[in-house]
Amino acid sequence: MQIQNRRDFGKQLLGTALNYFLLESLFSSQAFARPILPIANHWAKQLSEICNDLKLEKISPVLWQTQVEKLFNHIALEELLKFIDFQTLTKNFDYPDLGVNTKMITFPKLDGLPEKTVFIKKIFGMKKDRAIIPHGHSNMSSAHLVLKGEFALKHYDKVEEDEKNLFIKPTIEKKAKVGSSSSISDDKNNIHWFIANTETAFTFDVIMLDLGGKEYDIHNIDIEAGEKTGNGLIRAPKMDVQTALKKYGKQHH
Ligand SMILES: [Fe+2]
Repeated sequence: MQIQNRRDFGKQLLGTALNYFLLESLFSSQAFARPILPIANHWAKQLSEICNDLKLEKISPVLWQTQVEKLFNHIALEELLKFIDFQTLTKNFDYPDLGVNTKMITFPKLDGLPEKTVFIKKIFGMKKDRAIIPHGHSNMSSAHLVLKGEFALKHYDKVEEDEKNLFIKPTIEKKAKVGSSSSISDDKNNIHWFIANTETAFTFDVIMLDLGGKEYDIHNIDIEAGEKTGNGLIRAPKMDVQTALKKYGKQHH
């Protein structure tokens, strides 16, 4: 009797372990939607509204920058990481030797949130000393939240532009740690440059292209070759992406 009981108990234990294993694999499989968190749900809809307002020119790019960054600072990082499924996004992440790699984010399906949002959402990831190389933008806005690691971040205003140069003015120089946000537009902090200070580093990016009905453009610039123009500006030559990656994609100590 005693032995029988033990056997039964053993069987039961095995059964429980199996069930647990089954449940675990079911819940972690793609077949089941991720549980939707009410706060993140509301957050995503607000983000969508702000971006729609910018697209329809109901708000200025500078106001969009303020509002999106405010929103970035109003969600607990853990919540956002779960919402975008950061763990899956970064599993087997392909870190390039020069520069960065990106991955598109899919939000969970939500009532009141269009499946195809007006904004692009991505994570940018890189290894230590790699950079989102210095570049300026036209007809676009973007906002960035540090999800992991730390960056040396620099921003510049784009004051003027000619065929070969951007005329820029330094605006921000800081260490951007987890939870730190930044943003760009044609009107404010147009140029950015991130260098990863930690083994790996990631940002969450919300990107709006083709603003004002005009095609967007990106210019990589050679800031180190920049020359002071005498009126507080730096004349930084535009450069092609391959040359720019070679010079700025990886920091040499
Ligand atoms: Fe950019």
